[in-house]
Amino acid sequence: MKPLNKKSVNEIDLTGKRVLVRCDFNVPLQDGSITSDKRIVASLPTIEYLLGQNAKVILCSHLGRPKGEFLPEFSLAPVAVRLSELLGRPVKMAQDVVGENAAALANSLLSGEILLLENVRYHKEETANDPEFSQKLASLADVFVNDAFGSAHRAHSSTTGVADYIPAVCGFLIQKEIDFMGGALANPKRPLVAILGGAKVSDKIGVIKNLLNIVDTLIVGGGMAYTFEKSMGYNIGDSLCEQDKVELAGDMLRQAEEKGVQFLLPRDTVVGREYKPDTEWKTVKADYIGEGWMGLDIGTQTQYYFADAIRGAGTVIWNGPMGVSEWDNFAKGTIAVATAVADSGAISIIGGGDSAAAVQKLGFADKMSHISTGGGASLEFLEGKELPGIACLLDK
Ligand code: 3PG
Repeated sequence: MKPLNKKSVNEIDLTGKRVLVRCDFNVPLQDGSITSDKRIVASLPTIEYLLGQNAKVILCSHLGRPKGEFLPEFSLAPVAVRLSELLGRPVKMAQDVVGENAAALANSLLSGEILLLENVRYHKEETANDPEFSQKLASLADVFVNDAFGSAHRAHSSTTGVADYIPAVCGFLIQKEIDFMGGALANPKRPLVAILGGAKVSDKIGVIKNLLNIVDTLIVGGGMAYTFEKSMGYNIGDSLCEQDKVELAGDMLRQAEEKGVQFLLPRDTVVGREYKPDTEWKTVKADYIGEGWMGLDIGTQTQYYFADAIRGAGTVIWNGPMGVSEWDNFAKGTIAVATAVADSGAISIIGGGDSAAAVQKLGFADKMSHISTGGGASLEFLEGKELPGIACLLDK
């Protein structure tokens, strides 16, 4: 993969300019209250930098999937309130994304003031990447800063289209994602060890294919491991298996061998009677899971086996849990891997979703070099795909 060399927000003159910033404020809400403000906090370095430059800051984002309808439950108003608390200054809220009210508020903004536009997905033109809508949005500002890594895999008006009309650079959050994830793929400190988990092989085929060309060691745990083990002729009992991917899994194991990549699979497995948190469980060898039992976590022997490989790494990339990590009886494998990554001294990159949640829950977040803010976006990045929200930005 070629290193990405995109112009950053601190490499363009912004003094007194109107700056449109695309954030990923797609925060979880319950009864109108934000249950995690992680994504808002992640946007602060760029916003604070812009305020320090005396820019006029116009923020935009999607929230959920209102599909072109003005549904109040998808309003960004709670985000404006939380952002204002975090910044300790007022955040104005527009009634819409484009149109008279948004334009009037954007035009009257003074240096150092902040305006949040309403949910960009209140307009169906957003997801269609409609040029007219993109132009209207771009007309509110002089410069575009994309800082929404979580949405960078979407070619929408507010992530990509606006870059056709005004100069576009990345914010510090996207810059950090490019530096860590891009750096790990383009020029890793070796050995490069990737750990993949989660339920399905089908979700990670593109990632595995790409990583087989780059990594020194690939560790596979979680539900997806059983499809690989099936391809090796193991008896996997009632464990999760994607029958139509068994042949492909076998091909990938052969490819790994041809490429000299170490491919580590579980040696023992914690199995349960039923898919329930309090089901009867025991540990068995990975090649014989009896009928009536299903694999729900990696066993202790595997924890040591994986930890050994992680210990010697220069760089570790981890995506996906090793078992049903939300249930205590089946969380030990994920905890062991998180501990091994945290203690490895390697450059450690956690790719979004459940593994990021596990690391945070365990209190290991500070021990990781980088926790990606993208779910789908970080997977596509690891697949080696060009993300439209990054490709549209100016090169250095
Ligand atoms: C996410 O939560 O992964 C991003 O905000 C993207 O959301 P989307 O899948 O609705 O585009």
